[in-house]
This record gives sequence, C-alpha cells and structure tokens, in this order.
Amino acid sequence: MNVLVTYWSQTGNTRKIAEAIFRSLVCDKTLKPFSEVETLDEFDLIFIGFPIMQFGPPPAARKFISRAEDKNVALFITHATVSNSSDPIQQAMLAKELDKCKAICFHTKLLGMYNCQGELSEKISDELNNSGIPMLMAFAAMRPSTLGHPNPEEIKLAAGFATTIMKGF
Ligand SMILES: Cc1cc2nc3c(=O)[nH]c(=O)nc-3n(C[C@H](O)[C@H](O)[C@H](O)COP(=O)(O)O)c2cc1C
Repeated sequence: MNVLVTYWSQTGNTRKIAEAIFRSLVCDKTLKPFSEVETLDEFDLIFIGFPIMQFGPPPAARKFISRAEDKNVALFITHATVSNSSDPIQQAMLAKELDKCKAICFHTKLLGMYNCQGELSEKISDELNNSGIPMLMAFAAMRPSTLGHPNPEEIKLAAGFATTIMKGF
C-alpha cells in the first residue's frame, strides 16, 4: 500500500492537517504540496487537502483533482466557517461549500472527507477587509472565531479520520 498525502496551503492550516494525517499512516507514504507531485501513478490512495476559498474549492484544488481520474481519494478541508455552528445560515453555507468540494471529485473514487476550521491570518483578514467586497469583508469579521484552529482536538480527529479510511480500504 503506497499512500500520498498532498495539500495546498497558503497560511499553514491545511498543512498542519496534512502532517497529522501523514504521521498517522503506517505504510509506504509520501507527503508533498501539490506543486511537487509529478505523478499519481504509483499511489494506491491519495489524501488531498486544501482550504475553502470564496465559497468553494480553490482553482489549485480543481486543477490537482482533475489529475486523479479513477484514483482512491480522501479529502481534508479547512475553512473559516464554524463547524457545528448553531446558526442555520452558517451551517447551510458550509454544507454548500463542502458539496462543491465533493462535486469536483466526481471522476475519482471518493472514500471520505474531513473538514475543520482554520485560523484566518491577520494579514488575510486585513486584505479581505480592504477588498471592498461585502462577502469577503464578512469573512474578515469571522477571524476571532477562527483563532487557534485547527486545534489539538481537530488535529487528533484528522489522524483518526485517516486511520478509519485506511481500515476500510
Ligand atoms: C481569499 C480567501 C477566501 C476565503 N474564503 C472562504 C470561504 O468562502 N469560506 C470559508 O469558510 N473560509 C474561507 N476562507 C478561509 C480559509 O479557508 C481558512 O482560513 C483556511 O484554513 C486557510 O487554509 P490554509 O492556512 O491552509 O491556507 C478564505 C480565505 C481566503 C484567504
């Protein structure tokens, strides 16, 4: 069994989850950002991670996943939206964003998805605030609720997710 853990991460949140998944694996394994992955041919299973951006998967994720035709794939995703929010609007927004991530895997064998919150960095928050775009400015306002994520519990859950995927494989 040869497993690739690959990710795209601007501010390090998704990379932390990638590293936790990688550490949990007991098999032949490789950890690389998307940009360093030359071929997928040798891998039996690929964990693919990215942040949600502008309400869906970023172009880098779409591009990478387009290469994974018929591959066994498991996704890990970070986002600013509170997971398990009691606010139905936030819940619906996150569900829609995750559905879009799932949809881009239509040509793969998608085995599962993990998601958790990721801290919105101060720099990014300032950029979103200065964008003048109301929806992006609304994200900037979410920063306080994102601080410290992914937290140790979310990192542990990500490792557990990978273990479950491996058991079922
Ligand atoms: C330009 C931009 C757009 C974003 N859009 C969303 C979004 O639509 N929904 C969301 O929940 N989070 C959004 N985020 C927050 C990121 O998904 C979150 O901070 C993520 O953990 C960043 O991951 P990274 O550190 O691996 O880059 C956005 C972040 C940026 C920079």
